[in-house]
Amino acid sequence: MGTGHRGAFIILIFLSLLFGSCRREDTGPPPFEFLIGVSMANLTEPWRINMDGEIKEEAAKHKNLRVVFTDAADSSERQILDVKKLLAQGIDLLIVSPTDAEALTPVIAEAYDKIPVILLDRSVIGYDYTLFIGPDNQLIGKQAGQYIAELLRENGGEVVEILGRSGSPPVTDRSRGFLARIAHAKNIKVVDEIYADWLRDKSEDRITEWLRTHESVDVIFAQNDAMAYGAYRATEKLGITGIKFVGIDGLPGPEGGIEMVEKGIFAATFTCPTGGKEAVIYAMDILHHEEGIPKKMILRTTLLTKKTLEEGIPTPVSQNRSSGADGKIILGFAQVGKESDWRLANTESIKTAAREAGIELLFRDGEQRQENQIKAIREFIEKKVDVIAFSANVESGWGEVLREAKAAGIPVFIIDRPVDEKDESLWVNLMGSDFLEEGRRSAQWLVKYMDTEEPVNIVELQGTIGSAPAIDRKIGFEEVLKGYPNYKIIHSESGDFFRSTGEEVMRRILVELKENGESFDVLFAHNDDMAIGAIKAMEEVGLRPGKDIVIVSVDGIRDAFKMMIAGKLNCSVECNPLLGPQLMKAVKDYFAGKELPVRIVTSEDVFPTDVARELLRSRKY
Ligand code: AHR
Repeated sequence: MGTGHRGAFIILIFLSLLFGSCRREDTGPPPFEFLIGVSMANLTEPWRINMDGEIKEEAAKHKNLRVVFTDAADSSERQILDVKKLLAQGIDLLIVSPTDAEALTPVIAEAYDKIPVILLDRSVIGYDYTLFIGPDNQLIGKQAGQYIAELLRENGGEVVEILGRSGSPPVTDRSRGFLARIAHAKNIKVVDEIYADWLRDKSEDRITEWLRTHESVDVIFAQNDAMAYGAYRATEKLGITGIKFVGIDGLPGPEGGIEMVEKGIFAATFTCPTGGKEAVIYAMDILHHEEGIPKKMILRTTLLTKKTLEEGIPTPVSQNRSSGADGKIILGFAQVGKESDWRLANTESIKTAAREAGIELLFRDGEQRQENQIKAIREFIEKKVDVIAFSANVESGWGEVLREAKAAGIPVFIIDRPVDEKDESLWVNLMGSDFLEEGRRSAQWLVKYMDTEEPVNIVELQGTIGSAPAIDRKIGFEEVLKGYPNYKIIHSESGDFFRSTGEEVMRRILVELKENGESFDVLFAHNDDMAIGAIKAMEEVGLRPGKDIVIVSVDGIRDAFKMMIAGKLNCSVECNPLLGPQLMKAVKDYFAGKELPVRIVTSEDVFPTDVARELLRSRKY
């Protein structure tokens, strides 16, 4: 931005802050109901300018809304002051895209104490915010790696990666995803990693320098389109041809990624939605106290090549978003079964929310069998329902039936448990918990609670083999324990998420361990039901669960709270089953033509024993 523009921008901010201070007094401009403060990390990168434009465009649709903007010019100190100033203006909601997670965490927590806070693009440490909206940067990196691996094929080649600003989370995440994928590609070597701070000109300079001292390279992958274009300009200047450029952002407009792909300058780019529009839509929902607001919304990324631009970008489902002739929506829901209190609460939530939303529900219970669920989905397709939703008993094996639903033009929503399918266009949206995080939180709570360097032996009761929560909770738990070598899982077995199976399996484990002369200190159960079953088995042999054996489990069901109050369970990590309102909202939003994120993550907590008594009464499941 030139100095003239910057000056004008500062005046604009000043005026808008001033304007904010005479809000609702109706002296000049029309009256308004809500004031939103937007704190931007910077307004120099094209992607962020686009974010700003989206916020303005969407905000302009709401007559009862005013928005004030601040620009931190990439300074964390300045952004902290910006947030404080906005709070002093009496904003009703804060939208903030933080410069730096650590530095901004305290002031954002301070804001969240008073008003709802939406984080855009970058998160903070912990969970002191209302909603995060942003891309999955690691996934974008992986997708770029996958594309480049396909581009170079068997012959392979050399790649240079151009990175944004050192230390910033999207830089680390994109690079991690990219390198992880490239590591599996035959004959492809990443020969250099060059930082260019997200800037076109810096990238041009750095690549000019690099090309003067190196042989050419096959692909330049830049973490944003501006830097990819800068690299291209360097090669043009030096008269070097034959290098393929891949960027990220996929923005429209001059010098945007779309134009670069259309002109054949880039081989590809990946869209990275800014979330500006979604932030305003959700801000209004939050301000209107709507139900079903998630904790995280992960936005969809799409590969753009000349071919996809010519043929049309693949959309998740048919373009036909009309519901039944009378405007009534018929939803077919294929449930996993009845294995736990969690599942019963989930079923109840879906049935109640459908009734309240005026959505006709065809509900089928899969009785823990994938084939029953697939049969139910086929029945829904045959009955031509408007929309299908299901929770996947196990992760794999859904591709065929999902393709059938897509071919029939029926949108699919996946709730609770994700599927293991590469083609994300087979469903509209996945909503549910972050199981990895639940595993991590269980282990984090455990190491803090135990606070020991003595050896700790753990028995793990896993959920259904092959199900996403069982896979991810195990990975997340083990990931944290890697940092604590004195913690060891000595036995791990599935209890299938059933209370009765948890009891049976624990009974057997106790006998086996005794026979081997082994003992354990901790039980990590992938759900509360199995932990409760195991508690019974432990008591039978004279163990005092919660005292002799520390127990941490997942879900946060009422019975777990009762066990905590009785001192038999030490911690329950929440996994929220009340997905009905969120699902109905998403279905209605979809038919109203609203763009939906690829993933919605539910808001969740950790409940140790000391909060159990206080919270039991308010537990809804
Ligand atoms: O998919 C969520 C898991 O399924 C819950 O943690 C478990 O109790 C349930 O049956």
